[in-house]
Amino acid sequence: MRALSGKCWLAGQCWLAGAGWLVLGELNGDYPLPMTRVLSGVQPSGVLHVGNYLGAVKQWAATQAESDAFYCVVDLHALTLDIAPDDLRSRTLETAIGLIAAGLDPDVCTLFVQSHVPEHTELAWLLECTASYGELKRMTQFKDKGAGQESVRASLLTYPVLMAADILLYDADEVPVGDDQRQHIELTRDLAARFNGRYGETFVVPEAAIPKVAARVMDLQNPEKKMSKSTGTPAGTIAITDSADEIVKKVRRSVTDAETDVRYDVASKPGVSNLLEMLSAATGDDPYVLASRYTSYGPLKNDVADALVALLAPVRERINELTADPGEVTAALEKGADKAQAVASVTLRRAREAMGLTQRRIS
Ligand code: AMP
Ligand code: TRP
Repeated sequence: MRALSGKCWLAGQCWLAGAGWLVLGELNGDYPLPMTRVLSGVQPSGVLHVGNYLGAVKQWAATQAESDAFYCVVDLHALTLDIAPDDLRSRTLETAIGLIAAGLDPDVCTLFVQSHVPEHTELAWLLECTASYGELKRMTQFKDKGAGQESVRASLLTYPVLMAADILLYDADEVPVGDDQRQHIELTRDLAARFNGRYGETFVVPEAAIPKVAARVMDLQNPEKKMSKSTGTPAGTIAITDSADEIVKKVRRSVTDAETDVRYDVASKPGVSNLLEMLSAATGDDPYVLASRYTSYGPLKNDVADALVALLAPVRERINELTADPGEVTAALEKGADKAQAVASVTLRRAREAMGLTQRRIS
């Protein structure tokens, strides 16, 4: 939760911005205790997969009602790699549909498209002026995807700063993400603290919220690598739109190892441990306890496939319904962008003023 000193001015700012606050029955001084503010985002760079679902979106849906939650389709982030304009257009809507089908309720949380709120890019520039080249080039994702190549898009280097802007604009207390985003949240915390130290208290320093299991779902064909929309293998990636047959086939063919015993041991049995983590996230049972119930890989694979089919069947059905009539989704996104902008514009103004930028006066 926010530092007490921050709550006072944040309360004022957020009342002005019309953000949702919960009166918890007890008043804390003169103003009500705020709900935890949550923000997270997902790139529209491909179809949502089981890693996105179990590592992130399932938590978003489960906690949206008890927090003041903002979720965005980060279309500007998808431009860090070369994506065809038509693909970006269609995937932005598909991703929003996937999020709603997976349980986000736009009447409960604020769901929006990042580029519909231009404050994100403006704050990203201000934060870039506080970030160093050295810290950005050390980001693991940059090193994996582009370091050393002259032709790599400059935005791949600066992308974590745009992500920091996404988070800091909303005074987010918590950022629910998969394990691969841990380093980016650390950078966000560093940038927020640095800005506050240099220019005065402006941003809330957020915390990462990473699930205990399935925080890094691995590619079924290459369990040393995370399941990914952009770099995964097709046979090793289960999309939330996959049919029951496809899910069963992919799980049955997943790479395990030459042994036969079922143990939860991520380092020496990554394939089997990945299956156990998916089953654990789907059933709520501990992966060590689950492992003790199996003596061979076949029955484990059958149960994982059944659990994923059961989990994803209603999601797929809802995707089909929403895709047939997307008007409801585009209207929700428009409303979401209005709500998001009301909050973001207040924070941006605070940051601009703190840095010494002047306001344009319109008389
Ligand atoms: P992305 O698809 O990279 O935009 O990621 C959207 C969210 O899903 C982020 O919170 C990621 O950390 C999470 N995520 C992506 N891939 C995985 C994975 N293989 N396992 C767990 N979480 C993931
Ligand atoms: N970088 C994240 C990813 O690739 C997506 C993202 C962009 C994000 N902005 C964010 C996640 C803000 C959490 C908060 O998965």
